[in-house]
Amino acid sequence: MTVGIRLRGVGRTYALPNGSIRAVDGLSLTVDPGAFVTVVGRSGCGKTTLLRLVSGLEEPTEGAVEFLRDGRRVERGDAGVGIVFQEPRLMPWLTVAQNVRFALEGRSDREQIERKTSETLRMLGLERFRDAYPQHLSGGMAQRVALGRTLVFDPEIVLMDEPFGALDYFTRRKLRRDIRALHAQTGKTFVLVTHDVDEALTLGRTVIVLEAGRIADIVPVPFETAVESDDPVFIPLRRRILRAITGEDSFAPDISHYQEAGVNASH
Ligand SMILES: Nc1ncnc2c1ncn2[C@@H]1O[C@H](COP(=O)(O)OP(=O)(O)O)[C@@H](O)[C@H]1O
Ligand SMILES: [Mg+2]
Repeated sequence: MTVGIRLRGVGRTYALPNGSIRAVDGLSLTVDPGAFVTVVGRSGCGKTTLLRLVSGLEEPTEGAVEFLRDGRRVERGDAGVGIVFQEPRLMPWLTVAQNVRFALEGRSDREQIERKTSETLRMLGLERFRDAYPQHLSGGMAQRVALGRTLVFDPEIVLMDEPFGALDYFTRRKLRRDIRALHAQTGKTFVLVTHDVDEALTLGRTVIVLEAGRIADIVPVPFETAVESDDPVFIPLRRRILRAITGEDSFAPDISHYQEAGVNASH
């Protein structure tokens, strides 16, 4: 049974030489077991801090982070929380398979480690690359290995911090689909943070909009199947998110300068 997350008035203040900064400012929210939630907001709005608080890399200065299985509280250790960072952070002297299995060494017997590693590589389409070294991998493949290193633990909650940040459009698009499929296949609880509104909308079934450490809006995305970000169904949702963050309304763009520049809409 998958585990959900409950934040109760969670805050994180950092002391600075001349004052302090509230990176996360009293967040309360629930992530249901098996949900795919995305968190979107501009740089510095507190996304990474939020994930570090959930993963336990950081302690809140106020409030509590709780984990729930069947409505009952469980410890973070029992919940199993894995995190994938923006950069793959692979060990260059180890092969793909060795990177994936690294953290399991000494925790299980050889046979089990081998089985889990192979399963994870298969799930991520990495079998052909098992003996390759990180320097020979594309950015997308390296990020897959990073994901593998987290999934090999079989965590019930998978946290991802802008995992597509450094990738090109085509690779992002492919990985986006793969992550959607992985979520459907595993039924785990996924929380992905990004500054990319389209990414948030095409991945999450719920988008939490963060601004200055607070929830500016919670946007349900009522589409069951994967939809491309250029689908018109996203237009109103994109506007709603933009408005929640900036207060601006993006509607009715001024196209006169394109016309003045001689750009013709027909072709
Ligand atoms: N260890 C830290 N010490 C001081 N300030 C920090 C620390 N970590 C983050 N911050 C500040 O907290 C705010 C939120 O940062 P972060 O969570 O990294 O935002 P995001 O991931 O959305 O870009 C930023 O203003 C950042 O400078
Ligand atoms: Mg960040």
